[in-house]
Amino acid sequence: MGEEPTDRSPGASGEPAALPHPFFRPAEHPGHLRVSPGELDRLRARDVPPILLDVRSSEQRAIVHFEGDRWIPLGDLPRRVAELPQGGAIVVYCHYGGTAQRAADLLRGAGRTEVAVLEGGIDEYARVIDPSLPRYRDPPDDGWLLQQFPNRQTGCLAYLVTDRAHDEAIVVDPGHDVGPYLAALREQRLKLRAIVETHTHADHLSGHAELHARTSAPIWLGRNSPAQYPHRPLAEGDGVEFGGEELVVWETPGHTRDHLSLRLDGAVFTGDTLLPGSCGRTDLGDGSPDRLWESLTTKLLTLPDETEVFSAHYGPRHGLPQPERYSSTIGFERRTNEALVQPSREAFLTYMTDGWPPKPADCDAIVRANLVR
Ligand SMILES: [Fe+2]
Repeated sequence: MGEEPTDRSPGASGEPAALPHPFFRPAEHPGHLRVSPGELDRLRARDVPPILLDVRSSEQRAIVHFEGDRWIPLGDLPRRVAELPQGGAIVVYCHYGGTAQRAADLLRGAGRTEVAVLEGGIDEYARVIDPSLPRYRDPPDDGWLLQQFPNRQTGCLAYLVTDRAHDEAIVVDPGHDVGPYLAALREQRLKLRAIVETHTHADHLSGHAELHARTSAPIWLGRNSPAQYPHRPLAEGDGVEFGGEELVVWETPGHTRDHLSLRLDGAVFTGDTLLPGSCGRTDLGDGSPDRLWESLTTKLLTLPDETEVFSAHYGPRHGLPQPERYSSTIGFERRTNEALVQPSREAFLTYMTDGWPPKPADCDAIVRANLVR
């Protein structure tokens, strides 16, 4: 196999990766004030309480929201910022904190300085302050649950998606350390039906081989993957079933040639094709900015604004303490994503080509390792 790639799995080094991470541009608006549920409780009791801003979808808001708040869904926020009163502090909230962080980025970019994010979202507030509030069922009306596994060394995101009615699950883009997935499967008594890679990764060693060895679940990859280990190929329109649910495949080359996006009801797993705030760089292997443009404009950006986006990577500007979830929506990305707001195809191609940090030294070795494991 030649040179050994650096192990970027959790715990491989005691220190988090230095920021900015090589897979992301530097943050435009670093850092946010955060208020804990207890702090929010005290702020709400003041004579002049902060403006509470809910940025979730109508379906999520229907589950639970704060009395007297304001509601502007994340996707609508860029064009409705002026509706918020001038002056006064704003506390943005969502269910877990991740979406609110994206909204706070936008508000700060629009010149609002007194902006804070409710840490852990209204779900954490319900847990620690007001047990009478309904807790989140995620997503509310669909038959599946999602657990996200962030890797703080690499910024990578993996997912365990479960059909609770049938106690079956899939894992998307597993990291090198498969212990957390095995523990979740064991604790929740789930059968793993599939391991799906959105693409050949250059930023972390995949755990698909070990997860397959430990569970016998098949590994599914895009049909254009050069992988040399046993797997099942996926093409446009194919489905990956688990329980009564089905991931539907879109071929979205660009970040890599073999890249897939996976749709599941009102959500889409975008791998590194579409990330919160940017797109995965195309210069690490067999990627192509032209193909990325096509994948975005003919597929992902045709989805409704409210579609939830679950990517394979997050940037330093989106970091949150536990508990958290890193996600966005198609509408928010359409209006704010640095790559997507470029004024023309040519400007997009320039954005994807110029201004990126140097290619990480070990990414070729990681790609090679991921193709034979
Ligand atoms: Fe990637």
